[in-house]
Amino acid sequence: MSTTAIVTGGARGIGKACAEALAAKGCDIALIDLLEDDMAATAKEIAAAHGVKTLTFTADVTDFARAHAIVDEVAKAWGRIDVLVNNAGAPNPKPILEITEDEFDRTIAVNLKSCFNYIHAAAPIMLAQEGVARIVSMSSLNALSGGVTSAVSKHSYAAAKAGILGLTRSLAKEFGPKIAINAICPGVIATDLLKRMITNSHDSLVRGIALGRMGAPEDVASLVAYLATEPHMFMTGQHFVVDGFQWSC
Ligand SMILES: NC(=O)c1ccc[n+]([C@@H]2O[C@H](COP(=O)([O-])OP(=O)(O)OC[C@H]3O[C@@H](n4cnc5c(N)ncnc54)[C@H](O)[C@@H]3O)[C@@H](O)[C@H]2O)c1
Repeated sequence: MSTTAIVTGGARGIGKACAEALAAKGCDIALIDLLEDDMAATAKEIAAAHGVKTLTFTADVTDFARAHAIVDEVAKAWGRIDVLVNNAGAPNPKPILEITEDEFDRTIAVNLKSCFNYIHAAAPIMLAQEGVARIVSMSSLNALSGGVTSAVSKHSYAAAKAGILGLTRSLAKEFGPKIAINAICPGVIATDLLKRMITNSHDSLVRGIALGRMGAPEDVASLVAYLATEPHMFMTGQHFVVDGFQWSC
């Protein structure tokens, strides 16, 4: 039976790179995203390049019931769920005194509750099957630093991404030894999300990065693939910073 992976927010950006990296390791890939056309194109690309099976689900990751229905459908189709990548997320640049209650709730739902939804749905299946399953969730450098760029870093997003770290740490104890669960804290990664949000100039951003460039989605995806598929992987409950060492912004 082949290895199976679910990637939320897999239509583009970091999620797409994660799906590609996992497919390159031989995983069948189920994608979940709001962007139906982009997701279909990604699934087609991955299937053609790596000969793996794909499934696509157009859904909002904040929907708890839909998360359960999707995960159950994947498990029914493929028999098991080995990997869950909680990647879907979106920033909210509003300062705390300007953000509305609904906007704050939405940022927490998209970035944090989404992880709860898919973990809540997938964990019972992972715990019941043979072998050790893997979960990787996409936090952010914002969770640790309070902000990478002036636009992306506002408080609701930082709070949601910090919540992922607490969830990860506590669930590692709950789910061990059957599930290894880790989080990644990317710094400045060149994706559509970042292009839409940053106000800092490219040069001023890169000046504060020790490796002298913005990250690429593949820089994050290679670590996700390691955490999700490497047999000699002895980490759980951890977060890993992928930022080229962002010492200033
Ligand atoms: N790009 C960066 O610099 C950066 C830095 C730190 C953390 N991150 C995190 O990495 C993850 C991926 O970011 P990215 O830069 O690739 O962004 P992106 O906007 O390029 O891609 C995000 C994907 O998630 C999907 N998505 C968003 N909200 C959704 C929802 N409610 N339901 C279903 N799908 C949804 C989008 O449609 C999109 O396909 C996010 O969690 C983001 O917060 C990104």
